[in-house]
Amino acid sequence: MCGIVGYIGTQAASDILLAGLRKLEYRGYDSAGVATLLEGEVHCVRAKGKLQNLQDKMEGFENPAQVGIGHTRWATHGKPEEYNAHPHMDTKRRIAVVLNGIIENFRELREELKTKNHEFRSDTDAEVIPHLIAEFLSHLPADHPAPFLEATRLAVNKLKGAFALAMINADYPDELIAVRQQAPLAIGLGQGEFFCASDTPALVTYTRTIVSLENGEMARLTPMGVEVYNFGGDRVKKTPRTLNWNPILVEKQGFKHFMIKEIYEQPGVVRACLEAYVNPDWTAASTAAPINLGFSPDFYENLDQIQIMACGTSWHASLVGRYLLEQLAQIPTQVQYASEFKYAPPPLVPNVLTVGVTQSGETADTLAALEMEKQRRHAKGGAYQPKLLGLTNRTDSSIGRLVDHLLDTQAGIEIGVAATKTFTAQLMGFYFLALDLAYRRQTLSNSRLEEIINGLRQLPAQIESILEVQERYVEQLAHRFTDTQDFIFLGRGINFPIALEGALKLKEISYIHAEGYPSGEMKHGPIALLDEKVPVVAIAMPGIVYEKALSNAQEAKARDARLIGVTPMGDQEAAEVFDDLLPVPMVEELLSPILTVIPLQFLAYHIAARRGLDVDQPRNLAKSVTVE
Ligand code: AGP
Repeated sequence: MCGIVGYIGTQAASDILLAGLRKLEYRGYDSAGVATLLEGEVHCVRAKGKLQNLQDKMEGFENPAQVGIGHTRWATHGKPEEYNAHPHMDTKRRIAVVLNGIIENFRELREELKTKNHEFRSDTDAEVIPHLIAEFLSHLPADHPAPFLEATRLAVNKLKGAFALAMINADYPDELIAVRQQAPLAIGLGQGEFFCASDTPALVTYTRTIVSLENGEMARLTPMGVEVYNFGGDRVKKTPRTLNWNPILVEKQGFKHFMIKEIYEQPGVVRACLEAYVNPDWTAASTAAPINLGFSPDFYENLDQIQIMACGTSWHASLVGRYLLEQLAQIPTQVQYASEFKYAPPPLVPNVLTVGVTQSGETADTLAALEMEKQRRHAKGGAYQPKLLGLTNRTDSSIGRLVDHLLDTQAGIEIGVAATKTFTAQLMGFYFLALDLAYRRQTLSNSRLEEIINGLRQLPAQIESILEVQERYVEQLAHRFTDTQDFIFLGRGINFPIALEGALKLKEISYIHAEGYPSGEMKHGPIALLDEKVPVVAIAMPGIVYEKALSNAQEAKARDARLIGVTPMGDQEAAEVFDDLLPVPMVEELLSPILTVIPLQFLAYHIAARRGLDVDQPRNLAKSVTVE
């Protein structure tokens, strides 16, 4: 969740570190800090609050140091105060360390170190690390060939938890050490300069040649190059890879916020998905397959059930995925909250495909659930062998290294903390997976497949039409709700997860309490909440649940709730029921989630913007949740 950057080379490190932190601020933003090696000392500057506060503090000081580390924090242990901000140092202030993750055994370590006269200055778990390294350093023989690296190796072997680290040492000014254990860390290879970062946006301005560390690996960066070792001290050979995504994705390009820019990127993302996975010439008369996901034949063999692991918005996308996989491909599908799965896994059944869905590719709960499933299936073997698919826009992330198959949702990196384009991209991924399986299992006729695929092809232009006509209207409508305290979102069938998603978007960025319910559940309790102060947003798209969804909306209206309808354009029946309409093009219900979510994203965005809130960096949240 925190952001880490490190630099060693020939340029002024502090400028590069600040620029890198700016790109990583979406990972955490309650305090920040930078440490460089200057005139034989560690020069450390830290500030509470946004990165701008740190930048203001560093303003006007020409710092020529060519090695340093930086950090932007999402607090786990210790309040977001300057004294808890990273980097943290040992008693003699020679070693500076930044941490992303959690050190579970920090209390025991701190007590032990205190008995050896180490002085602690913060409430954090991170602070034990420089002290521990200093302690090991003090016991190494004077002629040890690589004392800083060795002391770090000994220290990390004592740490329990999930962590990524970067550190410098005033006594070893030509070294920067980076460590990975269950939290992401990438090394960037430049010309005579080297970088590390917890996410690649911090690197792409300088280099696209990357080495990803695996769990249990550490790297020594010097001005001469990078060496990677495992925690046992053995040298590990790594093959660099080239990032192929466009750095423009991490710029706002004239938009006020990343979130609104990413909302507008959705037609392009859906188009990219169609281009990547749909056979362009396919018709019902074709003999070739309509969808090509690039999976090997073994992917499709022995597949009786699907289980999906995800969190948050990705969990909502997975609920739509379940609907599609069950209704189109007739495969029984379960959706698990990854954070719950680990502590109450269901009994193992054979021939299961496990799908992990994540926009960051780094969500600790999702990775842990997938890892556990992999282990227990390996242990049982035979028909229980793991078959893991990752559905993500970040194929370069940790999930990419954990699963056997990847479906790239083509959304690229997303910066706004509230997921928008990655959600629609995940939905597209599920459409293709379900249609591919339906074709291979022959659960849909070719003419029905053609109908659905043609419908999918219309979606980019249909999203564009919503974006064109609706934003100003939603902006106006949002004014009414700046003081509203509670919202209810209703949807049925395939649009129930969209109601959940609409409520989550609003909660996350506007801090308004909102709940999503299946429309038919209203009368079983939540209806008691309704009065004229609680607006109800109801999704009602023609299909098997249309009439029912409209009557559920009427029930809310009868309790004086202000009714906002996400309904098909030009629908007279709907116009009579709702107070305000957020119309979307008429499509069949099966395809409607890709359209019905757009007005809900707009609504959340404009209410939050109207309330003057920090849309891209809402309080208490982080884009990648890398702690369990
Ligand atoms: C989405 O708007 C949220 N920020 C959050 O719920 C997110 O979807 C969740 O943390 C899962 O993240 P992931 O997709 O990166 O795994």
